[in-house]
Amino acid sequence: MKIRSVLSRIFRLVAGGTPSRPAVVPAPRLERPAARRAPETHSARLLDGRNVLITGGGSGIGRGIALEMAAHGANIYFTDIDGRSRQSLLDELAGAGVQATGFDSDVASSQANEELSRQLLAQGVTIDVLVNNAGIRNTPPPGAGAAREDLDRLFAVNVIGPLDLTARIVERMSAQGVRGSVLFIGSMHQQAVFGDAAYSASKAALAMAVRELAWQHAAAGIRVNGIAPGAVGQEDGGAASLHPYTPLGGHKLVPAHIGRAAVMLSSDYFAERITGCMLPVDGGLALHSYMTMMKPPPAHAQPVAGPEPGN
Ligand SMILES: NC(=O)c1ccc[n+]([C@@H]2O[C@H](COP(=O)([O-])OP(=O)(O)OC[C@H]3O[C@@H](n4cnc5c(N)ncnc54)[C@H](O)[C@@H]3O)[C@@H](O)[C@H]2O)c1
Repeated sequence: MKIRSVLSRIFRLVAGGTPSRPAVVPAPRLERPAARRAPETHSARLLDGRNVLITGGGSGIGRGIALEMAAHGANIYFTDIDGRSRQSLLDELAGAGVQATGFDSDVASSQANEELSRQLLAQGVTIDVLVNNAGIRNTPPPGAGAAREDLDRLFAVNVIGPLDLTARIVERMSAQGVRGSVLFIGSMHQQAVFGDAAYSASKAALAMAVRELAWQHAAAGIRVNGIAPGAVGQEDGGAASLHPYTPLGGHKLVPAHIGRAAVMLSSDYFAERITGCMLPVDGGLALHSYMTMMKPPPAHAQPVAGPEPGN
């Protein structure tokens, strides 16, 4: 006690006053919806009974996500502006034992997004997981400038539409106290240059949207993440091959790889505490920099024979 008072006197002499305590600002208490705890163990079906909405789900990566999520027990609601793709996915999902509904809805249209939300509400469906997948690339020919209407369409499909749809779906999630999840399908071209300024800029915009929305909706328990794929091959052994500079050599990247990452990021078991992340699924392709250009591609970065993961 005595030592303390002597020390305090010395401090006052040196500092010219009584040491002031730092002000403790109490952290604001946030009102949160009742927590849905992630299970301690997981069943084989990570999304059992969850309602998923996937834009552009009829083909490519969207289809890969739909099939993987359905395999994990999710009901699949999806949009696509292409009727044949819609029907083909509905046919594929027919035996999956989950609810599947396809909507003819253009994500770039605000009226279409409003109508889609209205139809889901009318059917009594609350979405647990939104996957903003639909995206386009309308690269002008080399040397030509991009036409203004092409730029408008690109940003409407890739950025503005997804933000508009997300706002509508998240509003419903919040109103219903659903601790849901939103995913954006970005691209490695959010950071890697490849010669299409408009497309890359649209994907870079999504990377920041993920971070902003994750912060904004965390108080409601809604997680927001993204996936940044590398060059994804077409389904069913189509033309695209493994990019020769892929550090993680072996098999080419297929929609199923993106679908599995989407399942993981949407599941409470694996990702209950993950928000604001943009997960690269690219075999390490985006790791390249001017330093790696001075080295030859890894010797193993060649396609190998053997079965590829299913789509
Ligand atoms: N394929 C790749 O290598 C790759 C790599 C990185 C990122 N991505 C991104 O992944 C997403 C899917 O790409 P993909 O290669 O599977 O495309 P895709 O063209 O193979 O499939 C897209 C699907 O979305 C539908 N669609 C297009 N515009 C739409 C709209 N306005 N509203 C609703 N549906 C619409 C199409 O009809 C099609 O069925 C895109 O956002 C794309 O930018 C793709």
